[in-house]
Amino acid sequence: SQGQRRKVKVWSDGCYDMVHFGHANSLRQAKALGDYLIVGVHNDKDISIHKGPPVFTEQERYKMVRGIKWVDEVVESAPYIPSPDTLDQYDCDFCVHGDDITMTADGLDAYHLLKSAGRYREVSRTAGVSTTDVVGRMLLLTREHFRRDFLEYDVDRASTTGSDSVPGSPWTETSQFLTTTAKILNFSNGKEPKPGDKIVYAAGAFDIFHVGHLDFLEQASKLGDFLIVGLHTDTVVNKYKGSNQPIMNLHERSLSVLACKYVSEVVIGAPRVVTEGLMEHFKVDVVCHGKTQTADITGSSDPYLVPKKQGKFVIVDSKNDMTTEKILYRIITHRLEY
Ligand code: CTP
Ligand code: C5P
Repeated sequence: SQGQRRKVKVWSDGCYDMVHFGHANSLRQAKALGDYLIVGVHNDKDISIHKGPPVFTEQERYKMVRGIKWVDEVVESAPYIPSPDTLDQYDCDFCVHGDDITMTADGLDAYHLLKSAGRYREVSRTAGVSTTDVVGRMLLLTREHFRRDFLEYDVDRASTTGSDSVPGSPWTETSQFLTTTAKILNFSNGKEPKPGDKIVYAAGAFDIFHVGHLDFLEQASKLGDFLIVGLHTDTVVNKYKGSNQPIMNLHERSLSVLACKYVSEVVIGAPRVVTEGLMEHFKVDVVCHGKTQTADITGSSDPYLVPKKQGKFVIVDSKNDMTTEKILYRIITHRLEY
């Protein structure tokens, strides 16, 4: 019809194992090059052949990529070496990939067919984060765990004020990523709640953003119209999760949560205790938490006393038992394979 131009469909593909904000950032840039983004995700068998076994199963990886807000569609078991036929099959114009070379098991450039067909475009890779790096941090921190046990911090104040946390705190100092306001702006929805919107608030660590978090946030978002996620500082997270966590620093966790399609806004460094002031400030209608424990290792008081008294507290069932500890366990039991 008149005035309607054909939509530009973009193809992106990859493993998306332990999906991180670097992956999300490449998909954000890919989407910006067209109107509609289709992401091909490789299956476990192909990844094992070309790269070694992934930490997350294909079902988990498909779900995580579907949860990223710039993704319109996911193609499961996408070919490791995409061809012009692959793109035609999904009506895609070109493929977008980060500016690193992806090699097949035979040492071939996985994109050679698309490159020679002129249907390959590059975006810049996000420096300072990769699946290998995150796995490395997890292994390093399990070793450091015992050495760091003696460290003690006065975090009582931090747990109620949500004071700033410097990336490079003792638990996240291995991070090589530098956060800029531009990056946060790129990831942000930039939208305020509309008048009458029901505001939902959920707070937590959201370390190594995983399928359990994703399912939780999906349920949380169904409780209202505008979901605000409060991220605890590294200091606070360390206090209740133990001496080797968090693995991702506050800024990295912020970007991962912002990339999630169910999230409207993020509080970068939220107080552990949900106060009356916070409820008023964000005009919160309902506060929720998953079925995981809220009591922390220090035995401090219930952070949800205020919303409970106001009759605004809800427990949400993510129906998913994934935890950061489980991921760590998978990595450690398979460490020889990585
Ligand atoms: N990507 C990126 N920035 C990163 C990591 C990945 O832009 N820090 C991009 C890749 O360039 C690719 C897409 O994310 O376009 C999917 O990457 P994937 O196949 O999952 O693997 P890797 O590139 O190996 O990612 P990683 O190094 O994290 O394992
Ligand atoms: O543990 P963390 O603070 O990262 O959890 C953030 C929120 O996600 C919490 O409300 C927790 O109960 C919820 N969650 C869940 N199911 C999981 C993992 C986390 O509901 N498998």
